[in-house]
Amino acid sequence: MKRLTDKRIVITGAASGIGRAAAALMVAEGARVLIADLHEDAAAAAAAELGGEDGQAVGIAVDVMDESSVAAMIDRAVAEFGGVDVLCNHVGGSNPREDLDLLRLDLDEWDRTMVLNARSTVVASRLALPHMISAGGGSIINTVSVAGLAGDTLQCAYGASKAAVIRLTQYIATQYGRDGIRCNAIAPGAIMTPALRDNLPEDVIADIRHHNALDLIGDPEDIGWAMVYLASDESRYMSGQTLVLDGGLTAQSPIAASRRALLADEPGSAG
Ligand SMILES: NC(=O)c1ccc[n+]([C@@H]2O[C@H](COP(=O)([O-])OP(=O)(O)OC[C@H]3O[C@@H](n4cnc5c(N)ncnc54)[C@H](O)[C@@H]3O)[C@@H](O)[C@H]2O)c1
Repeated sequence: MKRLTDKRIVITGAASGIGRAAAALMVAEGARVLIADLHEDAAAAAAAELGGEDGQAVGIAVDVMDESSVAAMIDRAVAEFGGVDVLCNHVGGSNPREDLDLLRLDLDEWDRTMVLNARSTVVASRLALPHMISAGGGSIINTVSVAGLAGDTLQCAYGASKAAVIRLTQYIATQYGRDGIRCNAIAPGAIMTPALRDNLPEDVIADIRHHNALDLIGDPEDIGWAMVYLASDESRYMSGQTLVLDGGLTAQSPIAASRRALLADEPGSAG
């Protein structure tokens, strides 16, 4: 038996990047997956490629910022699959040209980012929860970011909204655990996706790699496998947690990378 046989999964933002990789792994593990994305054509193409023939993957349009669109997404999952066992609130981001430091932050961008990352998670979870509860349980997986774990020089709306979702994850886990609902978050570090490539210059990506404990930048599948785990019953005893997958960025002391460079210069050093 595959790891996700009989699971009915909704994943937002799944036409591209991490979400698409996660959807591919979930289909391969036997789940039925609703691939929901702002870009309907890309969602339909992803579904056709990943599992179209036997209806294991279905692609639809959703705008997670619009409550009626999210309601239609959950209704469609129930119509297609008969229910929802797993909801992945995966869409997120901010506009790095407007989401700057506090004094230069565009307040409209603050509001937009809070809706895109935090309010959308509240809205979709509220709509999916009754279906999960009536089925005896379910798993909600919220994609956050290491940006929600510590301060940074820019993107304070992005970081604050992801921090809000980390705490929201604990509230959902607390309030619905007795209904069989698990809620966890995944905090990726830098992952090589179109969003990363479009928004960060190469030298910034190299700098992140320099500060990771591992000499790596993650691939979308590195997060996708964690989403498979949280969607599966293998994680049945885990709730309210944030799984950090960041190449060791936040595990090490902030001065570790410069120490490593200093040690490498010492005579007789293996580095
Ligand atoms: N890539 C990284 O390095 C990284 C790091 C930390 C966290 N994350 C988080 O991972 C998630 C996805 O990131 P990604 O890099 O895979 O992004 P991506 O840009 O590759 O994919 C995002 C998808 O979301 C869709 N989308 C955007 N706005 C939408 C909306 N309003 N409604 C529905 N769909 C919408 C896009 O069409 C796109 O297909 C986000 O929550 C992001 O904050 C990514």
